[in-house]
Amino acid sequence: MYKYFKYQKLSESNSPVKQAVAVFAKFLFFLAVPFAFSSRGFAAKKVVVFAVMAVFLTGCFRGQPKKQPPIHPIPDMDTQPRYTAQGASQFFPDSMAMRPPVYGTVARGHLNADDEFYRGRAANGNLVQHNPLKVDMQVLERGQKEFNIYCSPCHSKVGDGRGIMVQYNYVPPASFHDERLLNVSDGHIFDVITNGIRNMPSYAHQIPPEDRWAIVAYVRALQRSQNASLSDVPQDMQDKLK
Ligand code: HEC
Repeated sequence: MYKYFKYQKLSESNSPVKQAVAVFAKFLFFLAVPFAFSSRGFAAKKVVVFAVMAVFLTGCFRGQPKKQPPIHPIPDMDTQPRYTAQGASQFFPDSMAMRPPVYGTVARGHLNADDEFYRGRAANGNLVQHNPLKVDMQVLERGQKEFNIYCSPCHSKVGDGRGIMVQYNYVPPASFHDERLLNVSDGHIFDVITNGIRNMPSYAHQIPPEDRWAIVAYVRALQRSQNASLSDVPQDMQDKLK
């Protein structure tokens, strides 16, 4: 097993001897600077010193790609044997260095065992008739906001299926105020958002379950708004409408 995890050197040519030579060369270069600028000596000497400096200077350019890693006298634990993400491994039979979670593993807080809430299904597998959320004004407002963001481009803000996408030749959706859709269960609408239906894509990845149920409640409110009778209006406001 050890052989698979054996530390691999970044570069074979990066021997300690070569590193020591490089350090020494830079040391010489810094010695040469004051020497070159001193007033003593001949011009020829300066030319030679500059030439030598020029050679060493090329080794000092920063920001240039190098094959060798920088000199690292105190490595601490900076360089360690490791696998890169998505890398290959000869150790495991499937050659994947990243290990998939054990089959059946559930992340904490993601059990989602409540079928009614997460899948819109009752214990017998049928779509639920009623929204499991307690619908109040806050839920409806949330549903309105999410509906206007995610659904109105196709279904329009009133749900008649004449959203802006239809003008761009998208398949016109059915109106929510059609007889058939007035009579579907809450679970059906939740299921349509979750899994899509025919020409409508799934919105499960964009909209979390709680918001999906809020949207369902809002779709119901939209339907009610187009098919309301006088008895739906609160008593004290009925007189004003007559
Ligand atoms: C990209 C456009 C588009 C978006 C966005 C969209 N829909 Fe739809 N929807 C459609 C189309 C098209 C149909 C008709 C599908 C068919 O019959 O082929 C449809 C059908 C439906 C139906 C009727 C299903 C049935 O039983 O016939 C419901 C309910 C519905 N959508 C709800 C929603 C809700 C809620 C949202 C927002 C989360 C939404 N849709 C977002 C295009 C869209």
